[in-house]
Amino acid sequence: MLLSPPDVGVLEESYVLNALRSGWVAPAGPDLDAFEREIAQRVGCAHAVALASGTAGLHLALVALDVGPGDSVVVPTLTFAATANAVVYTGAEPIFVDCEPATGNLDPDLLRDLLRDLRRRGRRIAAVMPVDIFGSCADYGRILPLCAEAGVPVVEDAAEALGAVRAGRAAGSFGRAAVVSFNGNKIITTSGGGMLLSDDAALVARCRYLSTQARQPVTHYEHTEVGYNYRLSNLLAALGRAQLRRLDEMVARRRRLRERYAKLFAAVPGVRLLSDEDEGGNCWLTAIHVDPAVANWRAPDLADHLGAQRIETRPVWKPMHLQPVFAGARSLVTGTAERLFADGLILPSGSALSEREIVRVLDATQQFLDGR
Ligand SMILES: Cc1ncc(COP(=O)(O)O)c(C=O)c1O
Repeated sequence: MLLSPPDVGVLEESYVLNALRSGWVAPAGPDLDAFEREIAQRVGCAHAVALASGTAGLHLALVALDVGPGDSVVVPTLTFAATANAVVYTGAEPIFVDCEPATGNLDPDLLRDLLRDLRRRGRRIAAVMPVDIFGSCADYGRILPLCAEAGVPVVEDAAEALGAVRAGRAAGSFGRAAVVSFNGNKIITTSGGGMLLSDDAALVARCRYLSTQARQPVTHYEHTEVGYNYRLSNLLAALGRAQLRRLDEMVARRRRLRERYAKLFAAVPGVRLLSDEDEGGNCWLTAIHVDPAVANWRAPDLADHLGAQRIETRPVWKPMHLQPVFAGARSLVTGTAERLFADGLILPSGSALSEREIVRVLDATQQFLDGR
């Protein structure tokens, strides 16, 4: 049983088949335009450009903000490598900042301290990239004013968070630009893809132009700068449109599953769910944190027990400041992300899990707890 497999069915089949039969097999097409409009509307953003991946979106957002060699960009240390990789693609350097224990999201106190310290030393931060980890929005009520005060643009990495809301605003609507992902394991998928969102028409137009090889509007392929081949195809956009129609249903299924995990662990000492108080999360992945001193067992023990029954789990993402590829990068860390990595576990969370599969996971987990 997989952690978060794609949830596709007859609706997706009919959308993709219609797109194929319409003849729009070339990258551009009506489903691509409609998918951009529909995601922008859902998120509450004025403009969107559909891309081949979320990573491409993060890269283009930084390029459009003129981030480049010599610049520093704040990245939460608890994230998937794509956030930090996008910074490195531009020639800039990531500075890794630790997270809040309850959510795993960028710690606003540390961000405040870092921004103040750098300003005192006359150093510039080119951008801050908060991540909405596992589908719960970062604390933008605090992050956005801090960045505004420091004059630093925010690029929201909402790759994991489509469908989430915080204080009445949707994930993907915070910051100068935001990026969502439609990778195969995400809440909705185009098998691979992403979208950049912003209210800034000029920024989105520049990303659109860069995403199609930076072609000048003439027929003979004139280029005045280097572009990228980052566009999503019309066929995949059709798949995304079908998935988007089912987004609320899929969020609700993941939420119901999270509630069952919450009930199961409620009476277990030393165990808590990440972002357990977030009512607006999309519940993309449900992760627990185990305090081994209180629980008397460790997260990998449960992972082994479930793994023996062919149930997939995964550790919480390994922090970026511990990754060999980023050895030597600057960081402001307190040990929180390291603890979540050591003592955290992501449980099967997919919306396609059947009732039989869910009962199997819950029973296997209960069996493990009974044996302690
Ligand atoms: C936090 C985060 N950022 C960025 C990405 C990159 O998205 P993609 O796989 O669409 O490039 C992912 C997931 O893959 C992610 O989890």
